[in-house]
Amino acid sequence: MGDPVLLSIDGLCVAYDGSNALTGVSLQVHRGELICVVGANGAGKTSLIRSIAGIVRSSSGIVKMNGVDISGLPPWDVCERGLAQVAEGRQLFGNLSVEENLQLGGSLERARASRHETLEFVYRLFGRLRERRRQLAGTLSGGEQQMLAIGRAIMSKPEIVMFDEPSIGLSPALTDVMFGVVKALHEQGITVLLVEQNVAKSLALSNRGYVLESGSIVLHGPSRELLNNPEIQRAYLGMS
Ligand SMILES: Nc1ncnc2c1ncn2[C@@H]1O[C@H](COP(=O)(O)OP(=O)(O)OP(=O)(O)O)[C@@H](O)[C@H]1O
Ligand SMILES: [Mg+2]
Repeated sequence: MGDPVLLSIDGLCVAYDGSNALTGVSLQVHRGELICVVGANGAGKTSLIRSIAGIVRSSSGIVKMNGVDISGLPPWDVCERGLAQVAEGRQLFGNLSVEENLQLGGSLERARASRHETLEFVYRLFGRLRERRRQLAGTLSGGEQQMLAIGRAIMSKPEIVMFDEPSIGLSPALTDVMFGVVKALHEQGITVLLVEQNVAKSLALSNRGYVLESGSIVLHGPSRELLNNPEIQRAYLGMS
């Protein structure tokens, strides 16, 4: 892969009250890639995203963005360096309108100058958000809230977006819409790290994948190879 490493994680460990959630995770994301990290319930997917984003403190390990060590920086500073996340459970401001939530995403220094254009881009991507721009975020449907969470991340003009299970709680039809949005963003030049339990769909969408089990990466490689791996097929794809 010729493109430079955008995000590099080395030996990341996270523990909660002495119990390990991540035990030395290493991975690289090159500029322009769409990679996925797949794993079952409790594998450590959310802990991985939250520690990269600076929300959860790691006990050891290094996170680098564009070659610069960002481990231990507060979440706003991580965002300011071009790393946005779309959280599990969305984390929207329910009592603010759709547009106010989007404007908050665009209030970072890196994003301020182009805020109006980016808002227009988000509204073109999600016509539904434009229609509902004055509605309170807390009153949106699950799928609309997911769109808003993605829109808010886009507003921060990220170089890389990390998605934590964007399909969770959505119908199969909306899941396909959501995966289509992830693909569309990637085609716009945004690097994507997708964390998912939907192994078949995320491997089908991505260039490369990592398999996370009990806090460790047990396998990684081109997504096509992982899809054809008999162990993955047995453990995650319901094939015998
Ligand atoms: N705040 C916390 N306090 C204590 N333990 C936690 C906390 N958050 C997560 N854990 C534990 O850490 C482990 C990894 O959890 P994590 O939420 O990262 O997994 P996940 O892969 O995102 O799971 P899911 O698919 O259910 O979202 C689990 O055993 C979980 O119970
Ligand atoms: Mg999770």
